[in-house]
Amino acid sequence: MSRIRKAVFPVAGLGTRFLPATKTVPKEMLPIVDRPLIQYAVDEAVEAGCDTLIFVTNRYKHAVADYFDKAYELEQKLEKSGKTEQLELVRNVLPPHVRAVFVTQAEALGLGHAVLCAKPIVGNEPFAVLLPDDLIWNRGDGALKQMADAAEDSGSSVIAVQDVAREQTGSYGIVATDGFAGRSGRIRAIVEKPKPEDAPSNLAVVGRYVLDGRIFDLLEKTTPGAGGEIQLTDAIAALLEEQQVHAYRFQGTRFDCGTHLGLIEATIRYALDHEKLSDAARGMMQDALSELGVVDLD
Ligand code: G1P
Repeated sequence: MSRIRKAVFPVAGLGTRFLPATKTVPKEMLPIVDRPLIQYAVDEAVEAGCDTLIFVTNRYKHAVADYFDKAYELEQKLEKSGKTEQLELVRNVLPPHVRAVFVTQAEALGLGHAVLCAKPIVGNEPFAVLLPDDLIWNRGDGALKQMADAAEDSGSSVIAVQDVAREQTGSYGIVATDGFAGRSGRIRAIVEKPKPEDAPSNLAVVGRYVLDGRIFDLLEKTTPGAGGEIQLTDAIAALLEEQQVHAYRFQGTRFDCGTHLGLIEATIRYALDHEKLSDAARGMMQDALSELGVVDLD
């Protein structure tokens, strides 16, 4: 499989879990310490070698498009007042060689449908899908870079997985593999959100995919599945009939930023690992824990 150049970001969800904030702010724009969630996913895609980023959005998500657009007035003001550090931050949202493309998903028909909306831009080449809700922290190579390398080596599609508790299988795509060699295992079966008693394993799909372009033809034929939605998982199940697809146990820690607790957990992790804020953040956390009587640190 050739190296991926294009990455698809499905960002058309309503983010109802984060109401009332998401009444006006898309959930992808919620910050983790000093950057919005979407920026982490974009940085990971760029690091993996992608230079065309396709955002599948809806008419309420102007903020995402605005964020990646050039902010002339703001840049001028920052430049005039000599705020060079802030100016760099605003300018570096996307590196110069990377372009952003926006596609509208007119109806919320599911993740598979959202990915299919990117077909006219991706064409027939291998590409990545990143779900920005799944934030993956790692000190070494980002998860998508690890997967893009693995896809290039194996010549097959690669899907990120991690073990979850059996009672959580109903929240994920679940795969069965033929066992693992290192971090990769060939997928035998994949099913969307099975009940724990029906799940073929407790190996869950995490929101990073490197997919063969053939998936688009299969998505076009995919009928509504779990939750009445057109599921990417179902098209991957069809792809398995034709090609090898590998599950990949990436190195890194995944935070489910689609939930309040995941967002808090990610905030704590990134604050504690932040080059400027970590010492202060650690002190604050210790103070909060001892003031609330959660732990006695004396
Ligand atoms: C989606 C996918 C699911 C995957 C999950 C990872 O579900 O459909 O297969 O396991 O993302 O976050 P969602 O969380 O959008 O319901």
